Amino acid sequence: MKFSILTIFPKILDSYLNESIIKRATEKKIITVDFYDIRALSKDKHHKVDDTPYGGGPGMVMTPQPLHDTIMAAKKKNKGPVIFLTPHGKMLTHTVVKRLSKLNEIILLCGRYEGIDQRIRDTIIDEEISIGKYVLTGGELPAMIIIDAITRLLPGALGDENSAEEDSFTRKLKGKKEYPHYTKPAEFRGIKVPDVLISGDHKKIATWRQSKLS
Ligand SMILES: C[S@@+](CC[C@H](N)C(=O)[O-])C[C@H]1O[C@@H](n2cnc3c(N)ncnc32)[C@H](O)[C@@H]1O
Repeated sequence: MKFSILTIFPKILDSYLNESIIKRATEKKIITVDFYDIRALSKDKHHKVDDTPYGGGPGMVMTPQPLHDTIMAAKKKNKGPVIFLTPHGKMLTHTVVKRLSKLNEIILLCGRYEGIDQRIRDTIIDEEISIGKYVLTGGELPAMIIIDAITRLLPGALGDENSAEEDSFTRKLKGKKEYPHYTKPAEFRGIKVPDVLISGDHKKIATWRQSKLS
């Protein structure tokens, strides 16, 4: 899966991308992540990417020219849909992540300030996704959340292939949230692990776990 992230902060996700499962998925070439610096393509002599909103009001709006040129540059190398991260978008759920995980390429556009010029949204955005009903300072964390959620569904990305299939919200769990987990020690601060989990009776354990899905 090829992810292209369009942002004015191309280094902001470096540390997350270079740790753990995402790092290994990159090393195994299961995913690639490249960045396009929106500011670098601004034709403004000071590489400005924002301006005051028509009609007045607080804050700044990302201007169309750098966004347009950056999206076009990314589209030359990435044939996937252009997804704009925005609180106005469709809510990100397991179903959406699963659908996106079937693609080979995705372009993720990260907004900043008050957002982007509406003409870009109206003309070259294929899909808009929100990660929740709250407002962040930029689309970079939402883009990273999408990459993380998709990556763990890709074959070979997780150590144990089954673990993504049995996570919360999956079909195997009937869209429900997973059962509680316990590990050693068998007693911690006076609280014991449920007897059934140390009974060795796999049938009973499976029944107990089913009963704990929520
Ligand atoms: C400060 S926000 C803009 C919020 C916008 N003025 C509004 O009221 O809807 C700046 C950028 O952060 C990103 N963003 C913020 N919250 C988000 C969310 N819940 N889901 C996805 N992207 C979000 C978007 O790219 C957005 O353009």
